[in-house]
Order: sequence, then structure tokens, then C-alpha cells
Amino acid sequence: MRETEHKAARAYTDNFGEEPELVASAPGRVNLIGEHTDYNGGFVLPCAIDRRIAVAVGTGGRGGFETRLYSADFDEMREIGEKDSSWADYPRGVAWAMGEAGHELGGFRAAFAGDVPLGSGLSSSAAIEAAMALALDAFFGLGVGRTDLAIICQRAENDFVGVGTGIMDQYASLLCEAGAALLVDCRSLEARSVPLDLAAAGLAMVVCDTRVERGLADTGYDDRRATCERAASILGVEELREATEGDLDLLSGAELKRARHVVSENARVLEAVEALENKDFDEFGRLMYASHASLRDDYEVSTPELDTFVETAQQHGAAGARLTGAGFGGCAIALVPEGEAAAFTNACERAFAERGFEEPAFYEFVPAAGAELAAGIGKQPR
Ligand code: GLA
Repeated sequence: MRETEHKAARAYTDNFGEEPELVASAPGRVNLIGEHTDYNGGFVLPCAIDRRIAVAVGTGGRGGFETRLYSADFDEMREIGEKDSSWADYPRGVAWAMGEAGHELGGFRAAFAGDVPLGSGLSSSAAIEAAMALALDAFFGLGVGRTDLAIICQRAENDFVGVGTGIMDQYASLLCEAGAALLVDCRSLEARSVPLDLAAAGLAMVVCDTRVERGLADTGYDDRRATCERAASILGVEELREATEGDLDLLSGAELKRARHVVSENARVLEAVEALENKDFDEFGRLMYASHASLRDDYEVSTPELDTFVETAQQHGAAGARLTGAGFGGCAIALVPEGEAAAFTNACERAFAERGFEEPAFYEFVPAAGAELAAGIGKQPR
């Protein structure tokens, strides 16, 4: 078991007075390319990171079977009950969405522990949802497939938590494989792994948390979605996925800029997959830089901090760099020659300090496994 999984199991035992019946965990993600395309029915290429949220589940030994949720990270016990704008809304939302999908859940106890940085755009919310969904599926023997679990998690986020995100993060958390990125067609919801051996290419994945916190609810995320929908309706298509470069002539103003990003980004994702398959990281990196420029100039979701990171990456010979996730703060990613990661992050720190920005945090990730049940505990799968 992983450390987070042990921690969740211990928290379960300490709080509920017996061993859990199973433990599941699910990762956060970075998106390599394909930003703000998921809710337009387009393509995305995320990979899971080696930071996870684990959940230990059982019926609990003490005091009946009413459902209880405990977080080791917040040291808080919550009832399943009503929404209260806390971490517990994510597992609550998953249990609710499972019910909405027609799955009968009985009472359960769950203890969570994780190491996905919170609120920085690495999808800690998808990780807690995916871990809960996989655990409940196994605990109640529901036999729901991974893609349907991802849809349930998205429903939890959209309709229970109330954040109108696309499907990318939940798909990444549930379907990614170690050593690979995941190409998702967000219209057909088909997904396939694309091998991503960064070490063989002599590259390290450096992720910079700009420490500019963003909650999607209070940013321009909904505004961007609405503009894309308007652009699609002007063009007479259901989703911008169906728009072509030629169609852009029919648009102007914000609709033109947002649609130009979506149309060009979808093309870049497919080119990026081809580049990965050819192990052509120069081309892959060029596409990452182009994605960032489009997000900065046309989609207008970058920040001075994210731009500074990408410019510093360019100056230090990174193969590619771009903001990752929704933008408006949060994280950026660079593929840098292995062995130069430390010099590069030092240069970023200096550049941030010179401009009076918050001190950033850096991570080095490798493409990790998606959600899993931890082996060797309890009676899983039922
Ligand atoms: C957030 C959302 C995703 C996706 C990205 C932008 O991470 O949760 O669904 O829309 O923004 O690509």
C-alpha cells in the first residue's frame, strides 16, 4: 500500500474502531495539452500525477451504521447530510450522484487522507471523487465501469458541488495508466493511453504552482463556457468541436477569439499525440508553447505569473511549457532536460522574486497510475 493509503486505513481504524474493509486511492492530474476543450466536445491529453487521495471504507464498529465521513488532513468528522461547502461535499456528491444513477447504497464509513496539493489546479477534487466512487463501487458490489464512474463524478461536481467543469479531470483520475498520457475524445467519451516515457527522452516534468489560488466558481470559467456556447450557436453547431478554421470568418469579438483557441487547440492535441507516438519531443514541446500563447492571447486565461514561468522555461531550453488546467492562476508545466530542473526552478524563483510575485512551489511528477483499489486489504472486490 502507498503511504496515503496506509494513512487513510489508520485514520479509519482510529476513528471507527475497527479495520476498514477496503481502501481505494485516486490521483490528481496535469494536462499536457488540450485546455478548455473538454466542455466543447474536443480533445484533451492529461496524465495522472504521483499525488493521490486515498479513502478507507467499511461499516464501522461503533454506534450503528449511519454514514460518516472523516478527513485525516482536516481532522474533521462529517455526517453524509447536507451540503456545507467543505471537503465533504465531494464524497457526498458522489454518493448522491450514484443514487441518481440508480445505484442503491447502504450506510458506510469513510476516512480520507491525501497529498494532492489543494486549490492549485491539480484536481484534488476529482481525486477525492474518483477515490470515493471506486471505493463505493467495490464496497457495494455495483460493477459500474470506469467511464460511467467518471460520469457520476462529473455529475457530483456539476450538480451537487455546483461547479460546471468538463469531464477531463474525472476521466484522468479514473482512467490514466502509469507511464502514459490519456487521449480523451470528450464528445464520444472514448479514451486511449498514449505512452509517455519522459525519462527515455531525457526530460523531467516540472510543475510550478504559482500560488495564485483559484476557485473555478469565482473566475471567468463560466463566462468562457458561455461565450463558447454562443459561438457554437452562431455557427449553427452543437459544440465548437464541430467548427472548422473556415467557420471562424463568421465570428467576431470575444466569440472569435475563444473559438479560434478551441479550434486550434483541438488540432494541436491530435498533432501532439502523433508527436508522442513518433517520440518527437521537440514537436510536442512546440505545440505546448503554441497552446500557451493561444490560452494567453485568445482565451485570455493566463496570468503574469504563468507567463513568467513559460518565458523562463523558453529561455532555459525547455522543450515545451504552458499553463495547465483552467488558468486564472494555479499551475504551469514544463518539460526540461533532466539534470537542469534545479537550475531552471532557481531561475524561476529569481524571476518571480524580481517581479514581486508570491514564492512559487515546484514539483517533479512522473505519469502515474489512475484510481486503484489497494491490494491486500479486506474482502475486495465484492
Ligand atoms: C478545469 C476543469 C476541466 C477543464 C479545465 C480546462 O480543470 O475542471 O474540466 O475544463 O479546467 O481545460
